[in-house]
This record gives sequence, structure tokens and C-alpha cells, in this order.
Amino acid sequence: MSIVFFDSGMGGITVLREALTLLPGQEFLYYADTGHVPYGKRTAEEVRSLVISAVETIVKRERPRALVVACNTATSVAIESLRKVSPFPVIGMEPAVKPALEHEKVSGRRVLVLATPLTLSQEKYSDLVSRLDSEGQVDSLPLPGLVDLVEQEDFRGEKARAYLQEAFSSLKREDYGTIVLGCTHFPFFKNEIASFFSPYADVIDGNKGTVLHLIRCLGSSPRAEREAHGPVVFMSSGDVEKDKGKFFRLMERYQGSR
Ligand code: DGL
Repeated sequence: MSIVFFDSGMGGITVLREALTLLPGQEFLYYADTGHVPYGKRTAEEVRSLVISAVETIVKRERPRALVVACNTATSVAIESLRKVSPFPVIGMEPAVKPALEHEKVSGRRVLVLATPLTLSQEKYSDLVSRLDSEGQVDSLPLPGLVDLVEQEDFRGEKARAYLQEAFSSLKREDYGTIVLGCTHFPFFKNEIASFFSPYADVIDGNKGTVLHLIRCLGSSPRAEREAHGPVVFMSSGDVEKDKGKFFRLMERYQGSR
């Protein structure tokens, strides 16, 4: 039985990478809903039904040992529905607001959450912020354009920098202590984002925390060793051969950038 990672496209690679390091020797299946990426600009109803039907396709192939919804957007609209119908553990993601606020407790500096428009518009997100942000330190900004750049494998930098320059133009950068990457595609542009807030802010994501949670659910213990991991089987709802090439190129790129 495999541990299944699911994302709208290639963003889940940034979470899978942590699992390959911390869970050597396991079998992994990665499913990308490339026929419908990006999710972040769709409605909640659309994404919920896309996620449910993608998981039905996966389960037809094999029953997962666990399912990691390596996508903040899919988690925010579909996690409850998935848990209701799945006889295996379902692990979701949420923007790492809690560790960010803990980090800024003493400094009182601001936290900026970057995610897709759909994630930021959901009650799940506003509930999370209102539960934790008693001092009003959290700001949020949608960056859907970065998802497109990852899917197009456009890492030359100029487009990303121009896009970020425009998106961050109204922020007072020195006010921020922590930047939260609340979309699994964004770690591909971590260096570009960090350079806008340097030397003031740290840039964090919830990827390792998600994998540690997965490990607890499986009842295993993390082994941070670089020993060989099991095979990664790739599936997608788009052009599988083309997508597979992209998947392995992006796996390499992400590994190399860390
Ligand atoms: N990678 C996803 C996330 O974490 C979704 C990006 C998209 O499809 O818009 O939010």
C-alpha cells in the first residue's frame, strides 16, 4: 500500500520531498490534477467536486495507506467531505499561522500569509486567524500568479520578480517578521520571496509539520536519513507522459534548491 500525495498540480512536490527524507523505504504515489489546475481561482464547489472525483480515481487503482492532501486550497474546501468517505487516514494542510505568531509573540512584528484567493476566502482560514491572532498581527495576500509560473516551469526569475514587486508594492516590508507560504507551489519561489523581505523576515511553510503529522498518524518514527526511498508512482488527470516528465524535473529542481 502506498502513501498518496495529492495536489492540483506540481505544488505537492514540496511536501513529498520532506516525506522522502523522513520516511525512507515507503512507497509513494503522487496524483496531480493537472487537467484542472489551478484550483485557487475556481469556486469552492468546483474544487470540492474535483477533489472528490480525483480521490475516487486514486482509490480505484489502490487503497492508500494514507492520503496527504498536499494542497492548502483543496484542504480548505474538501477535507471534511474526504474524511467522511475515506476508510484511511486523510492528512490536510493549513497555513502555518500558529508557528508564525508564536515566533513573533515577543517581537510583536507582523505576519504575512501568502496563499491562493480561494484559501484566503474560506471560513476555515478566517476561523484559524480569528482563533489565533488576538493582537491583529496577521495580513494576507493572494498570489495566484506563482502557481501558473510553477506549472509552466518558468523559473527564469524576471517574471516572478516583476509579479512579486507589483504584489508587494503597497506593503511596508520592514514591518514583517514572518512570511507564511500558505500554498504548496510557493516554496519553489522561496528565495525570490525572501529577497523582498531580507533582512527583516523569515519565510516559513507548513510542509515539514504536515509530514511529521503523517508520521504520527502512521505510527512510525521519523528517520532523517538520506537513505533510498521507495519508488514514486506518478498519476495525473492530464497528459500523463508530459506531466510525468515535468514531475521528475521539478522534483530534481526542488531538491537542488534546498
Ligand atoms: N498547491 C495548491 C495550494 O496549496 C493549489 C494551487 C492552485 O491550484 O491554485 O494551495
